[in-house]
Amino acid sequence: MIDIDKIRADFPILNEKVNGKPLVYLDNAATSQTPIQVINSIVDYYSKINSNIHRGVHTLSQKATDAYEQARIKVQKHFNAKNNYEIILTAGTTHSINIVATGFTSILKKDDEIIVSALEHHSNIVPWQMLCERTGAILKVIPMNEEGELLMNEYNNLLSEKTKLVFVNHVSNALGTINPIEEIIKKAHNVGAAVLIDGAQSCPHIKPDVQKLDVDFYVASAHKLCGPTGVGMLYGKEEWLNKLPPYQGGGEMIKEVTFEKTTYADLPHKFEAGTPNIAGGIAFGTALDYMNEIGFNNIAAYENELLTYATTKLLEIEGLKIYGTSKNKTSVISFNIGSIHPYDIGSIIDKLGIAVRTGHHCAQPIMDFYKIPGTVRASFSFYNTKKEIELLVEALKRAKTMLS
Ligand code: ALA
Repeated sequence: MIDIDKIRADFPILNEKVNGKPLVYLDNAATSQTPIQVINSIVDYYSKINSNIHRGVHTLSQKATDAYEQARIKVQKHFNAKNNYEIILTAGTTHSINIVATGFTSILKKDDEIIVSALEHHSNIVPWQMLCERTGAILKVIPMNEEGELLMNEYNNLLSEKTKLVFVNHVSNALGTINPIEEIIKKAHNVGAAVLIDGAQSCPHIKPDVQKLDVDFYVASAHKLCGPTGVGMLYGKEEWLNKLPPYQGGGEMIKEVTFEKTTYADLPHKFEAGTPNIAGGIAFGTALDYMNEIGFNNIAAYENELLTYATTKLLEIEGLKIYGTSKNKTSVISFNIGSIHPYDIGSIIDKLGIAVRTGHHCAQPIMDFYKIPGTVRASFSFYNTKKEIELLVEALKRAKTMLS
């Protein structure tokens, strides 16, 4: 059960006013808000133990190192990775994807095939296109249907012994569709391909078990999970992380450096050159503790209730069309009202204190599929309420009257 009053009291920003109105924050798919426990962990770090990690014998450095490595273990436990060194702490999902995409440059050959899906965010398209340019590999796309679901028969047809990699998001950021990743992973493995799952949009709602999924790589960002921006994770199976070359050269990722030759550090440090976002990493751990304490089953059940309520209420607005109508979706609703431009709707409801995202949501191919310039996207989190959904609906009705 969600104790909504108790939860909302943890988020100072929810008491803010925007344009003179109480903030109604419905842009959680872009970034989640930050509870006081996470804010305090950043303040505590800088107030009490700020120091560089893995470098000093002095007490502060050791305390900071311990706190950072504890955070890695929290991430490991949350995703159920077998070993803590299979968790690379990164700057976010995009950074994590680029580590893998760059690493495969020396592994792929001309005419090898990479499969992505029609539902990808640009960050899970562009790095693979760049990889194809470097290697001569070919990018194939699993198509989607009107409901915003992947056509799995077409996926079966794309797979062959030429397929080396499959990259799919767990949940579409633009539509909220939950993709059948278990099936995608199993079928890719049947032809010997490795799989990377982009969990940026699933992790706020679903707790993935990377061992059970048997996935090769899984990536996510802290800021979608009540943590800070600029931090994320890359899970990779040990054998894959050992196979991939380092992404960046620098301090801390080495074993020995001479001008003739450098040897690289063991996992995870091989992929963690330079001073990381230490406070951010520690706060990521605190954010996972916070969400786990509420419980992902409770979060999913409550958000599902919000999704059902919002869908019903929004569809009462004449001319409103929802994009992404899969039965299997998270609490994200993308929509348009008649031919009104999403940006105009977003600007008007912002004046009423309501924050939603408008535009193509970094997923232009999805908008091209529907032949629209973009959508209005309302995305709900466990700290939103039905009352806020009602305020959204009222505001949309006003915007529609003004813009029609
Ligand atoms: N990828 C984030 C979104 O969907 C920023 O809004």
